[in-house]
Amino acid sequence: MPRFVHISDLHFGREQPEVIAGWFKITAELQPDLIIISGDLTQRATDTEYLAAQQFLSQLPWPYFVIPGNHDMSATDLAERFFKPWKKWQHYIAPDLEPVLDLEHTRIVGVNTARAAGFYFDWSRGQISDQQITAVQQKFQETAATRLKIVVAHHPFWLPKNSEYRDVVERRDQAIAAFHDAGVDLILSGHVHTAYTQILQGVLIVHSGTSFSNRLSQGQANSFNLIQGDHTHLTIQFMHWNGQRFQSTEQREFQHTQGVWQQTAGLNSV
Ligand SMILES: [Fe+2]
Ligand SMILES: [Fe+2]
Repeated sequence: MPRFVHISDLHFGREQPEVIAGWFKITAELQPDLIIISGDLTQRATDTEYLAAQQFLSQLPWPYFVIPGNHDMSATDLAERFFKPWKKWQHYIAPDLEPVLDLEHTRIVGVNTARAAGFYFDWSRGQISDQQITAVQQKFQETAATRLKIVVAHHPFWLPKNSEYRDVVERRDQAIAAFHDAGVDLILSGHVHTAYTQILQGVLIVHSGTSFSNRLSQGQANSFNLIQGDHTHLTIQFMHWNGQRFQSTEQREFQHTQGVWQQTAGLNSV
């Protein structure tokens, strides 16, 4: 049964080396098949931070799947932000901003929801375009019903109480409906630095907090998720940093029946 470690919002530049060391230690014990990283690898998209992120990725003894977040383009160099927003990402991290990965029983599709600007005040907000929604549908079109179908996108499709002042990704409702039609099981995201799960239109949404950085949301420790299962059953385990090591804090079980995901065990306290 596939086993994924989902980390997010690494924010190199604000990283905590002891937390990274603790993560390597426990992840070596967990022996994941894949590390999934849902964006914000840097704090200010500088070369120094990108180099640190690149070095981290090069040290991973496991395969990884990575997409960018809003912090991965410069907020201060506006020429770079508007004309070549992903130049550094493509140089240091990966040429493909929206990768697709097939494992034995799983297909994973990345969506880049970060934008250089938008018709709203908060440019950290994410969007998904009609073209991106169609592209996701097409990427799952030929995928067998028996495969677990995962979308990885940085921005939230649902927000918990402590983050309700923020916005969900623009075109959320269209995207979720289309994803459900395309058979998507799971959306993995970050951005709000809080670990939670939610089911929307039958699709399971799972967020990781900031895994390594000191940019903690109020009351939230550093965290990552251990995800195990297949297209019929998933177990999500929250792993939180207790000041010395990562430990399992909660486990939630989900079952896929009649085309929708339902939670069958575990608290849902967010
Ligand atoms: Fe972040
Ligand atoms: Fe973000």
